[in-house]
Amino acid sequence: MIKLAPSILAADFSRLGEVIKETGESEADLIHIDVMDGQFVPNITLGADIVKAIRPYTDKPFDVHLMVDHPDRFIDQFADAGADIITVHVETCAHLHRTIQMIKSRGIKAGVVLNPATPVDSIDPILAELDMVLLMSVNPGYGGQVFIPSTLDKIRQLRRKIANLSLDIDIEIDGGVNKDNVKAILDAGANVIVAGSAIYRDADIKTSIQTFKQGMRK
Ligand code: DX5
Ligand code: ZN
Repeated sequence: MIKLAPSILAADFSRLGEVIKETGESEADLIHIDVMDGQFVPNITLGADIVKAIRPYTDKPFDVHLMVDHPDRFIDQFADAGADIITVHVETCAHLHRTIQMIKSRGIKAGVVLNPATPVDSIDPILAELDMVLLMSVNPGYGGQVFIPSTLDKIRQLRRKIANLSLDIDIEIDGGVNKDNVKAILDAGANVIVAGSAIYRDADIKTSIQTFKQGMRK
Protein backbone atom coordinates (compact mmCIF):
# COMPACT_ATOMS: atom_id res chain seq x y z
CA MET A 1 0.00 0.00 0.00
CA ILE A 2 1.23 3.47 -0.94
CA LYS A 3 1.39 5.93 1.95
CA LEU A 4 2.25 9.58 2.53
CA ALA A 5 4.03 10.68 5.70
CA PRO A 6 4.23 14.48 5.94
CA SER A 7 7.34 15.55 7.87
CA ILE A 8 6.46 18.17 10.45
CA LEU A 9 10.05 19.42 10.41
CA ALA A 10 8.93 21.88 7.74
CA ALA A 11 5.83 22.96 9.70
CA ASP A 12 5.33 26.12 11.74
CA PHE A 13 6.56 24.98 15.18
CA SER A 14 4.87 27.94 16.87
CA ARG A 15 1.49 26.32 16.10
CA LEU A 16 2.41 22.65 16.17
CA GLY A 17 -0.80 21.43 17.82
CA GLU A 18 -2.95 22.98 15.10
CA VAL A 19 -0.66 21.67 12.37
CA ILE A 20 -0.98 18.13 13.73
CA LYS A 21 -4.75 18.50 13.96
CA GLU A 22 -4.99 19.69 10.35
CA THR A 23 -2.64 16.96 9.16
CA GLY A 24 -4.76 14.50 11.11
CA GLU A 25 -7.87 15.61 9.22
CA SER A 26 -6.11 15.23 5.86
CA GLU A 27 -5.40 12.22 3.64
CA ALA A 28 -1.99 11.75 5.27
CA ASP A 29 -1.33 8.14 6.30
CA LEU A 30 1.38 8.71 8.90
CA ILE A 31 2.94 11.72 10.60
CA HIS A 32 6.72 11.76 10.26
CA ILE A 33 8.54 13.22 13.26
CA ASP A 34 12.25 14.04 12.96
CA VAL A 35 14.24 13.78 16.17
CA MET A 36 17.76 15.25 15.93
CA ASP A 37 20.37 15.44 18.67
CA GLY A 38 23.02 17.85 17.37
CA GLN A 39 25.53 14.98 17.52
CA PHE A 40 24.69 12.39 14.93
CA VAL A 41 23.32 15.21 12.76
CA PRO A 42 24.23 18.89 12.81
CA ASN A 43 20.86 20.11 14.06
CA ILE A 44 18.59 19.81 17.12
CA THR A 45 14.83 19.43 16.86
CA LEU A 46 12.52 17.96 19.48
CA GLY A 47 12.27 15.30 22.17
CA ALA A 48 9.73 12.89 23.59
CA ASP A 49 7.95 15.57 25.67
CA ILE A 50 6.91 17.35 22.49
CA VAL A 51 5.72 14.10 20.93
CA LYS A 52 3.65 13.46 24.06
CA ALA A 53 2.21 16.98 23.89
CA ILE A 54 1.05 16.65 20.28
CA ARG A 55 -0.20 13.05 20.62
CA PRO A 56 -3.79 14.04 21.61
CA TYR A 57 -4.25 16.13 18.43
CA THR A 58 -4.67 13.14 16.07
CA ASP A 59 -5.12 9.37 15.85
CA LYS A 60 -2.81 9.04 12.83
CA PRO A 61 0.23 6.86 13.45
CA PHE A 62 3.39 8.68 14.55
CA ASP A 63 6.45 7.64 12.53
CA VAL A 64 9.38 8.69 14.72
CA HIS A 65 12.72 9.00 12.90
CA LEU A 66 15.52 9.02 15.45
CA MET A 67 18.65 10.82 14.22
CA VAL A 68 20.46 10.45 17.52
CA ASP A 69 23.57 8.68 18.77
CA HIS A 70 22.90 5.60 20.93
CA PRO A 71 19.15 5.59 20.26
CA ASP A 72 18.57 2.75 22.78
CA ARG A 73 18.59 5.41 25.49
CA PHE A 74 15.40 6.98 24.15
CA ILE A 75 13.24 4.14 22.83
CA ASP A 76 11.14 3.74 25.97
CA GLN A 77 10.58 7.51 26.18
CA PHE A 78 9.31 7.73 22.61
CA ALA A 79 7.21 4.58 22.94
CA ASP A 80 5.64 6.03 26.11
CA ALA A 81 5.04 9.32 24.29
CA GLY A 82 2.93 7.55 21.67
CA ALA A 83 5.19 6.54 18.78
CA ASP A 84 3.67 3.85 16.53
CA ILE A 85 6.82 3.27 14.49
CA ILE A 86 10.37 4.00 15.58
CA THR A 87 13.20 4.00 13.06
CA VAL A 88 16.88 4.06 14.04
CA HIS A 89 19.92 4.67 11.86
CA VAL A 90 22.14 1.66 11.23
CA GLU A 91 25.09 4.09 11.52
CA THR A 92 24.19 4.78 15.19
CA CYS A 93 23.64 1.23 16.44
CA ALA A 94 26.53 -0.93 17.61
CA HIS A 95 24.00 -3.64 18.48
CA LEU A 96 21.32 -3.16 15.89
CA HIS A 97 19.59 -6.46 16.53
CA ARG A 98 19.20 -5.63 20.21
CA THR A 99 17.86 -2.16 19.43
CA ILE A 100 15.27 -3.56 17.02
CA GLN A 101 14.17 -6.09 19.63
CA MET A 102 13.84 -3.27 22.18
CA ILE A 103 11.49 -1.38 19.87
CA LYS A 104 9.44 -4.48 19.08
CA SER A 105 9.19 -5.43 22.74
CA ARG A 106 7.14 -2.24 23.17
CA GLY A 107 4.51 -3.60 20.77
CA ILE A 108 5.23 -1.02 18.06
CA LYS A 109 6.76 -1.22 14.59
CA ALA A 110 10.51 -1.13 14.08
CA GLY A 111 12.51 0.18 11.16
CA VAL A 112 16.08 0.87 10.17
CA VAL A 113 17.34 3.97 8.35
CA LEU A 114 20.26 4.03 5.91
CA ASN A 115 22.17 7.18 5.04
CA PRO A 116 22.80 7.86 1.34
CA ALA A 117 26.34 6.39 1.51
CA THR A 118 25.36 3.27 3.48
CA PRO A 119 24.92 0.17 1.30
CA VAL A 120 21.62 -1.73 1.26
CA ASP A 121 23.53 -4.97 1.98
CA SER A 122 24.48 -3.66 5.43
CA ILE A 123 21.09 -4.75 6.79
CA ASP A 124 20.89 -8.20 5.14
CA PRO A 125 21.14 -10.13 8.43
CA ILE A 126 18.37 -8.14 10.09
CA LEU A 127 15.99 -7.62 7.17
CA ALA A 128 13.52 -10.33 8.22
CA GLU A 129 13.05 -8.63 11.61
CA LEU A 130 11.97 -5.28 10.18
CA ASP A 131 8.62 -3.66 9.47
CA MET A 132 10.17 -0.83 7.48
CA VAL A 133 13.42 0.30 5.88
CA LEU A 134 13.91 4.02 5.45
CA LEU A 135 16.36 5.01 2.74
CA MET A 136 17.59 8.58 3.19
CA SER A 137 17.63 10.45 -0.10
CA VAL A 138 19.50 13.41 1.44
CA ASN A 139 22.09 13.58 4.19
CA PRO A 140 19.99 13.91 7.33
CA GLY A 141 19.92 17.11 9.34
CA TYR A 142 17.78 19.57 7.42
CA GLY A 143 14.62 19.83 5.40
CA GLY A 144 14.55 21.40 1.97
CA GLN A 145 17.56 19.61 0.46
CA VAL A 146 17.85 18.16 -3.05
CA PHE A 147 17.01 14.47 -3.71
CA ILE A 148 20.12 12.33 -4.38
CA PRO A 149 19.38 10.40 -7.62
CA SER A 150 21.44 7.28 -6.72
CA THR A 151 18.72 6.52 -4.15
CA LEU A 152 16.60 5.12 -7.00
CA ASP A 153 19.05 2.24 -7.53
CA LYS A 154 19.06 1.51 -3.81
CA ILE A 155 15.25 1.35 -3.80
CA ARG A 156 15.25 -1.15 -6.71
CA GLN A 157 17.93 -3.25 -5.04
CA LEU A 158 16.07 -3.33 -1.73
CA ARG A 159 12.69 -4.06 -3.33
CA ARG A 160 14.25 -7.01 -5.19
CA LYS A 161 15.75 -8.38 -2.00
CA ILE A 162 12.46 -8.09 -0.11
CA ALA A 163 10.57 -9.79 -2.96
CA ASN A 164 13.13 -12.61 -3.26
CA LEU A 165 12.73 -13.35 0.44
CA SER A 166 8.91 -13.00 0.25
CA LEU A 167 8.96 -10.49 3.10
CA ASP A 168 6.40 -7.79 3.82
CA ILE A 169 8.46 -4.66 4.52
CA ASP A 170 7.68 -1.04 3.76
CA ILE A 171 10.29 1.01 1.91
CA GLU A 172 10.18 4.63 3.01
CA ILE A 173 12.00 7.48 1.28
CA ASP A 174 12.95 10.67 3.08
CA GLY A 175 14.48 13.84 1.73
CA GLY A 176 13.93 16.06 -1.28
CA VAL A 177 10.75 14.35 -2.44
CA ASN A 178 8.43 16.58 -4.46
CA LYS A 179 5.60 16.30 -6.96
CA ASP A 180 8.06 16.04 -9.87
CA ASN A 181 10.13 13.10 -8.61
CA VAL A 182 7.62 11.15 -6.51
CA LYS A 183 6.41 8.96 -9.39
CA ALA A 184 9.94 7.76 -10.20
CA ILE A 185 10.47 6.96 -6.51
CA LEU A 186 7.27 4.92 -6.32
CA ASP A 187 8.01 3.20 -9.64
CA ALA A 188 11.41 2.15 -8.29
CA GLY A 189 9.60 0.27 -5.51
CA ALA A 190 9.18 2.61 -2.55
CA ASN A 191 5.74 2.69 -0.91
CA VAL A 192 6.02 5.20 1.94
CA ILE A 193 6.85 8.78 0.99
CA VAL A 194 8.07 11.41 3.44
CA ALA A 195 7.63 15.01 2.33
CA GLY A 196 8.34 18.08 4.42
CA SER A 197 8.79 21.29 2.49
CA ALA A 198 6.68 20.03 -0.43
CA ILE A 199 3.70 19.82 1.96
CA TYR A 200 4.07 22.50 4.62
CA ARG A 201 5.29 25.28 2.32
CA ASP A 202 1.62 25.95 1.57
CA ALA A 203 -0.64 27.52 4.17
CA ASP A 204 -3.51 25.18 3.28
CA ILE A 205 -2.16 21.88 4.60
CA LYS A 206 -5.16 19.71 3.75
CA THR A 207 -5.29 20.79 0.12
CA SER A 208 -1.55 20.46 -0.31
CA ILE A 209 -1.66 16.89 1.09
CA GLN A 210 -4.62 16.04 -1.13
CA THR A 211 -2.84 17.37 -4.23
CA PHE A 212 0.37 15.54 -3.34
CA LYS A 213 -1.49 12.26 -2.88
CA GLN A 214 -3.26 12.69 -6.19
CA GLY A 215 0.18 13.01 -7.80
CA MET A 216 1.23 9.75 -6.12
CA ARG A 217 -1.74 7.86 -7.58
CA LYS A 218 -1.24 9.00 -11.17
C1 DX5 B 1 15.93 15.24 7.02
C2 DX5 B 1 14.65 14.71 7.63
C3 DX5 B 1 13.50 14.75 6.71
C4 DX5 B 1 13.09 16.13 6.28
C5 DX5 B 1 12.58 16.04 4.87
O1 DX5 B 1 16.98 14.99 7.87
O2 DX5 B 1 14.82 13.36 8.04
O3 DX5 B 1 12.38 14.04 7.23
O4 DX5 B 1 12.10 16.70 7.07
O5 DX5 B 1 12.30 17.31 4.43
P1 DX5 B 1 12.13 17.63 2.88
O6 DX5 B 1 10.96 16.86 2.39
O7 DX5 B 1 11.91 19.10 2.88
O8 DX5 B 1 13.41 17.24 2.19
ZN1 ZN C 1 12.98 12.11 8.56
